[in-house]
Amino acid sequence: MLDDSELQTLLAARKPATSLPRPFYMDADVFAADMEKIWYHDWLFAIAAAEVPKTGSYVTLQIGAYSIIIVRGADGQIRSFHNACRHRGSRICAAEKGSSPKLVCPYHQWTYELDGRLLYARDMGADFKPQDHGLRGVHCTQAAGMVFVCLAEEAPDFAPVATQMARYITPHDPSQLKVAHQSTITENANWKLVLENNRECYHCSGSHPSLCRTFNDDPDLVGADDSISSPAGLAHVERCEAAGLPARYVADPDDQWRLVRIPFLGSAVSYTMDGKAAVARRVGDMPFDNAGSCLFFHYPNTWNHFLSDHVLLFRVIPVSVNETQVTTTWLVHKDAVEGVDYDLDRLTEVWIHTNDEDRQIVEENQKGIASPAYLPGPYSQRQESGVIQFIDWYATTLEKRLTPPARPAAEMAAE
Ligand code: FES
Ligand SMILES: [Fe+2]
Repeated sequence: MLDDSELQTLLAARKPATSLPRPFYMDADVFAADMEKIWYHDWLFAIAAAEVPKTGSYVTLQIGAYSIIIVRGADGQIRSFHNACRHRGSRICAAEKGSSPKLVCPYHQWTYELDGRLLYARDMGADFKPQDHGLRGVHCTQAAGMVFVCLAEEAPDFAPVATQMARYITPHDPSQLKVAHQSTITENANWKLVLENNRECYHCSGSHPSLCRTFNDDPDLVGADDSISSPAGLAHVERCEAAGLPARYVADPDDQWRLVRIPFLGSAVSYTMDGKAAVARRVGDMPFDNAGSCLFFHYPNTWNHFLSDHVLLFRVIPVSVNETQVTTTWLVHKDAVEGVDYDLDRLTEVWIHTNDEDRQIVEENQKGIASPAYLPGPYSQRQESGVIQFIDWYATTLEKRLTPPARPAAEMAAE
């Protein structure tokens, strides 16, 4: 593990608007620092609320060293717990998802309520206090149908982003969505390369023939600046806002998240090969088909598209310094019927192609950086403003969580 002054030195070596020095993508110690200072600190997108539709539905996730459970209680609330029994520490749920009326440890059958209280522990003696042995909680909150968790002792304030998410996403009514499909792929690349690749469309015309049928790769629309600098973006924002759909670019002052509604290309209304809707039934109260895509990202691990006919959620979880899991979830109106209102292949094909194309891109990026000949190169200010914004967020966030170097005694004595 690198100490904080070594990390400071590494960060100081990076040049503005330039890809990061090699250790940031290759070094297991930097990866350990990323996990400690960012992934175990910030709110992370975990699941769609629709993935745990009923009392007792649960999902387990491995985030670095932590195994967690996300479960819906009898009161309808979604909670998260460390997946470690309070007896001798066994994992309680081994499956990736399932449903159970109680959480029962497979080792000696200690039995927990869905709200984490210990209900039953056999032969533990008269002095044993079940109330002292409930499951350890993980911070868990919900906004716009997305469940976020935070592994820190004290979670950062989520209210500002939750307020904006509610405003922009309520017209899509996340409470009425169901999961139509989910895919998880492993990309052999550092998590920051996965995020960098997402934050620009400089590569789109050369790599994404299916996506480029409908996605507008104008850098003024998809970069780090207000989308209304593009005439198409301005016209779209005005049309949506006039219909009561929040659309104008809004971003975190610290650059951790952003919401904006952008238009599709030409007359397209969805991410399909022909640009027509993938689902006959619109979500929520969307006033028209061509509302474009409401884009929402939240660093370090999610970017999303909220459309008139479906919703696409993306979750990134690092597995190791050069392996990253990317999960895509397609959500449709809960009353939409597969084979009647939508065809699953048509709904999913564009992003299944696109994800695989992106996987190849970032794996080649990682392989090139693995060569000792790699030198950091300049980002395009016009095309890669989003990458610059992400890398600046990453470096600033990491830096502010390092212990400041001790001041020399002579300097303090001079005050
Ligand atoms: S470790 Fe869970 S019941 Fe013993
Ligand atoms: Fe891409």
